[in-house]
Amino acid sequence: MTRGCFITLEGGEGAGKTTLARGLARHLAGHGHAVLRTREPGGAPGAEALRALLLTPGLDWDPVAEAMLMFASRREHWIKTIHPALEAGAWVICDRFFDSTLAYQCAGRGLDQGIWRALRDLSLPGIAPDATLILDVDPGLGMARAMRRSGPDRFEQLDGTFHRRVRDAFLEIARREPGRCVVLDAARAEQDILSDALLALRRTLGAPP
Ligand SMILES: Nc1ncnc2c1ncn2[C@@H]1O[C@H](COP(=O)(O)OP(=O)(O)O)[C@@H](O)[C@H]1O
Ligand SMILES: [Mg+2]
Repeated sequence: MTRGCFITLEGGEGAGKTTLARGLARHLAGHGHAVLRTREPGGAPGAEALRALLLTPGLDWDPVAEAMLMFASRREHWIKTIHPALEAGAWVICDRFFDSTLAYQCAGRGLDQGIWRALRDLSLPGIAPDATLILDVDPGLGMARAMRRSGPDRFEQLDGTFHRRVRDAFLEIARREPGRCVVLDAARAEQDILSDALLALRRTLGAPP
């Protein structure tokens, strides 16, 4: 049995990660591949319990404690869900992974990158996605899309400089790791983004998805 490919989708709110995950899963399944679509935080029973803790309003986590919970949840996700699926030959499409913690907690909220690196190395030694698609879009457009999806309540108080830092952090990750990451212009139509994503995966993985 050949091992499956581990693909992560990254980018800001409303960039189109969930939409692309659905499109990729549909395409891959249509070509006869086993596919697992999953998302973070969560994706395994313990990881979902940690997600509920992380998203509990008013808990106001210390940034290091928050990052530790994120990586605890991520390790659980990897051990219980992602790794077994890859070993069974499935393609795993994961909506957000460790790059989101670097972008949101470090670049966004000021967590030390050394702490991120230490937690990553401790919880996922030598583990990385085979390919990461970074959906890049102006935060204003992303936010407008996300508000159309969920209503304004969740987003109205978030500030623009935060989202610019997050966007720049994703672009910096792509510059640092060009063998793993591909930036896609996510301001375009869904179908164009999906075609580009498939092309990028063929190049990055050297395999026809
Ligand atoms: N390329 C696109 N053009 C226009 N609207 C889009 C595009 N991709 C997604 N959307 C819409 O924008 C909203 C947010 O997309 P979604 O995939 O949920 O983003 P994310 O998961 O990155 O937050 C959804 O209502 C979706 O239908
Ligand atoms: Mg989403």
